[in-house]
Amino acid sequence: MHQVMLNKTEDTKIPLVQSKYRRKRHHFIFAAMRSPFKIGALLPSSKALARAMASGVDLNRAGAVVELGAGTGVVTHALLQVGVKPENLVVIERDESLHALISNHFQHLKILKADAIELDTVLENIGVTKINAVVSSLPFLVMPQEVRNAIQAQMAKVIGEDGVIIQFTYGPKSPITPAQMRKNHLVGKRHKLVVANVPPAHVWIYKKA
Ligand SMILES: C[S@@+](CC[C@H](N)C(=O)[O-])C[C@H]1O[C@@H](n2cnc3c(N)ncnc32)[C@H](O)[C@@H]1O
Repeated sequence: MHQVMLNKTEDTKIPLVQSKYRRKRHHFIFAAMRSPFKIGALLPSSKALARAMASGVDLNRAGAVVELGAGTGVVTHALLQVGVKPENLVVIERDESLHALISNHFQHLKILKADAIELDTVLENIGVTKINAVVSSLPFLVMPQEVRNAIQAQMAKVIGEDGVIIQFTYGPKSPITPAQMRKNHLVGKRHKLVVANVPPAHVWIYKKA
């Protein structure tokens, strides 16, 4: 059961967990309203979607887990819950206010304010060379095609021969097109459909062909 902390007066009782969740949600919604095409969703992912993403990580595979587009940290939390070690997790978020929010919340993690389009350089700069999984919530559906292709090429590059890319999408098709899969020597499969999310989402997993 959650421990409930009360405000001073009886009529302003607010469970701490609920108020924290509301603050995070509001933060995300404001960021999304400021730049809808950069954030790519009006609401954070549900816990069910975050768990489905995290369930794609094989903890027996060596290397770092790199999360792209962490937002308010719902997937970050799920990754820690399934057993990804904090020292093995690298979190990347481009939006300044969301980066500040999660850096404050997960003070023990490596959380970088960076653009996924520079993924290989960002990882090189912190000495991360071996990747277990890139777990991405990036909003490919609203990105210009050249940007999307460039980021997907970066993801394919950094996973090397053994790592995987885990990506969710609200669309019915693979978020990496067949042409981009061929170009980046990837094969992909649908890992899970999550209906308990607004909107429902598909989680895909890609690896080298
Ligand atoms: C759809 S939201 C997902 C947020 C969170 N992971 C979730 O599932 O609720 C996409 C996130 O990706 C971030 N983002 C978008 N483009 C990015 C980029 N090029 N590099 C890094 N982060 C980016 C946005 O700021 C936003 O936080």
